[in-house]
Amino acid sequence: MIPAGTSLGAARRLAADRLAAAGIEEAASEARILLRLATGLDPALPGGAAGMCLDPAQCDRVEAFLARRLSREPVARIIGTGAFHGLDLTLNAACLIPRDDTEALVAAALDLLPPYGPARILDLGVGPGTVLLAILSERREASGLGIDLSAEALVAARDNARTLGLADRAAFAEGCWTQGLAAPFDLIVSNPPYIPAADCERLAPEVALHDPRLALDGGADGLDAYRAIFANAGRVLKHGGHVAVEIGIGQAPDVAGIARACGFRLARLVSDLAGIPRALVFAAV
Ligand SMILES: C[S@@+](CC[C@H](N)C(=O)[O-])C[C@H]1O[C@@H](n2cnc3c(N)ncnc32)[C@H](O)[C@@H]1O
Repeated sequence: MIPAGTSLGAARRLAADRLAAAGIEEAASEARILLRLATGLDPALPGGAAGMCLDPAQCDRVEAFLARRLSREPVARIIGTGAFHGLDLTLNAACLIPRDDTEALVAAALDLLPPYGPARILDLGVGPGTVLLAILSERREASGLGIDLSAEALVAARDNARTLGLADRAAFAEGCWTQGLAAPFDLIVSNPPYIPAADCERLAPEVALHDPRLALDGGADGLDAYRAIFANAGRVLKHGGHVAVEIGIGQAPDVAGIARACGFRLARLVSDLAGIPRALVFAAV
């Protein structure tokens, strides 16, 4: 326990030691974030905050946040926001925490969209708005529709669109992939669930215990969502439009095969920062 009267700097070191002892890799930076959340003060900023002493209520809050992190709840869930593409996104329990890997999908999408001019984007499995809002933040004349099966995730998406000043160009609707959609789009983007069902339990506890299963589980072989999306993509895509999807490690040949069988050719493959093929772009044949 961190006793009342401990300085903020010492509390940060104690917290970091406990996180590190539990095998948490970013222990020092996470301790800083949790201390800041508990006290409203940043222990690492110059100007004397590190010497200030914690009162009993602040110690209780630090302990509560540490207990949650030690039970493997990710920091983004504890603070309720995740950073992506320079945007701070509010998250709730139904939202996947944004991953840096998804920048590959955003980069692929931005390459397909001219810097100016209207474009209609459909984001299937929009979650908290991660991909759609990142794209709209870079393309001022584009607008989009985000679909998700989770009504709760859409609460966060609408909230994020409002906070980011994008609500006039971003609409959201509850639904299953393209079901019930008619209006044609220039670009379909999707980061669907793609983990094979049996692998979901073997993921790191931060993911297996705290990310929503609906955002992870891609069915027996991880490819169910791609089958559903490509089977109907042609119906909601404008002539000359594209489909860009994020994929899991090693899934490129299978996803390309599914898309080919539905009348799409692979136009481009984009790798993530680790050099792993992560986003595929398709055009209608
Ligand atoms: C991997 S998460 C991606 C979330 C966000 N787009 C991102 O890139 O971080 C997949 C999303 O698909 C949604 N989803 C799962 N099954 C769906 C379905 N049948 N129809 C629409 N959305 C679905 C989940 O609720 C989740 O928000």
